[in-house]
Amino acid sequence: MPATVIVGLQWGDEGKGKTTDVLAEQTAMVVRYQGGDNAGHTVVLGNEVFKLHLVPSGVLYPHIVSVIGPGVVVNPATLIDELDGLSARGVDVARVRVSRSAHVVMPYHIALDRALEMRLAGEAVGTTHRGIGPAYSDRALRIGLRMEDLLDPQRFRHKLARTLPDKNAGLARTEGMPQFEVDELADKAAEWGRRLRPHMADTTWLVQDALARGEQVLLEGAQGTLLDIDHGSYPYVTSSSPVAGGACTGGGIGPLQVDEVIGVMKAYSTRVGSGPYPTELTDEIGKGIAQRGREVGTTTGRPRRVGWFDAVSLRYAVAVNSVSSIMLNKLDILSGIDEILLCVAYDVDGERVDSWPSSADVLARATPIYERFPGWGEEIHGVRALADLPENARRYVAVLEDLAGVPIVLISVGPERSQTIERAARPLRRGVARPPSTAGVHPA
Ligand code: GDP
Ligand code: IMO
Ligand code: MG
Repeated sequence: MPATVIVGLQWGDEGKGKTTDVLAEQTAMVVRYQGGDNAGHTVVLGNEVFKLHLVPSGVLYPHIVSVIGPGVVVNPATLIDELDGLSARGVDVARVRVSRSAHVVMPYHIALDRALEMRLAGEAVGTTHRGIGPAYSDRALRIGLRMEDLLDPQRFRHKLARTLPDKNAGLARTEGMPQFEVDELADKAAEWGRRLRPHMADTTWLVQDALARGEQVLLEGAQGTLLDIDHGSYPYVTSSSPVAGGACTGGGIGPLQVDEVIGVMKAYSTRVGSGPYPTELTDEIGKGIAQRGREVGTTTGRPRRVGWFDAVSLRYAVAVNSVSSIMLNKLDILSGIDEILLCVAYDVDGERVDSWPSSADVLARATPIYERFPGWGEEIHGVRALADLPENARRYVAVLEDLAGVPIVLISVGPERSQTIERAARPLRRGVARPPSTAGVHPA
């Protein structure tokens, strides 16, 4: 029963969209297991660029069932827009399924997200303002609205009427925040339900049935390990579990059903939003990387902070995700840099620290200890074999692999699907038992 998890090893935007797209060819199903439309996953196909927020990155293949699992929080308006946008570009979205158990991001969650960030002022997390934290909070409080509630307007109205006064009271405490009315939101919800009904399913059984048939299932993470609510630099994190373990809870599979965890990282690092970032570059080199790498947030359009690669966090991410192999993205962006720095440990209060500190306060006091490597001048977008990379690029990859302790099996040298170096047989190939089946696609 081959389930493979694709997980970001850094602060998100590692290129998970490209990785999923490259690997999805061999797959029957791609499942998003956490997060919401805070994610922005880019897939480039020739001249076409697709920016996906909720729909899994396998949707561009006609044979794939795309599943939005129970661990995701869904803004129905975004999902409808995304489905419409994909259809308008000729992508068949008939096989997109969304879990009836996934929680709904409501307009008041978005307003509450903004209000809280305003009140935190200088200590704001720098969220994407997509209502993610407030929606997950309601889920934990057991007052959330689920996708299945959209299908029953009366039940929806009843549940909404119970919680909305508290939401409005909370919003009234922050100047300039809107108030919401039950009637208006209930009407919207009924329309969302009508539109999304054909896509709703008990996705846990869809996934389990696919695995039982021996089909390959990919679980696509959003965000990244260092933004994980438990394992990231709390409180500068998102409100879900991007780590590989989250794929089990959020996708509806057991740990023994996962046979491969592919970590995704880029050859340097980026971070969007606030929080400690030891290897951050604020100089011309950083600006150059940001420019070449087009490091602008897919969801918010904010410039991403840029820094050198951090191997302290890499070792941690490999451990907490039990990573079995790695896809290294954006190696091409480092071309033309004379000297590449790689953080191998931190100095915290005069002491050498080799392991990732769980406290954001400690991380904020960490100064990177770097090793230096000669760079390469050549553009490498056209390279398709490891042996054809410049020697110094090969050396950098070998050092990263050594620090990770697991093989780097795929190296990306450009955004397009084909701009990929396969070092070994693709990890998924051995797992394909038979051509993917679409039997069992059943809106429950
Ligand atoms: P995700 O959130 O992890 O899916 O990553 P994003 O899509 O937000 O950001 C990664 C960006 O880098 C996207 O614009 C990709 O098209 C692009 N990208 C991915 N791999 C490569 C690569 O190897 N080289 C270059 N130049 N761009 C890449
Ligand atoms: P993908 O899937 C990068 C960051 C936000 C903020 C923190 C909390 O494209 O890699 P939230 O809105 O989730 O409450 O914000 O998390 N963040 C991301 N950063 N890539 C993402 O997604 C992100 N999703 C959230 O910038 O710092
Ligand atoms: Mg992204």
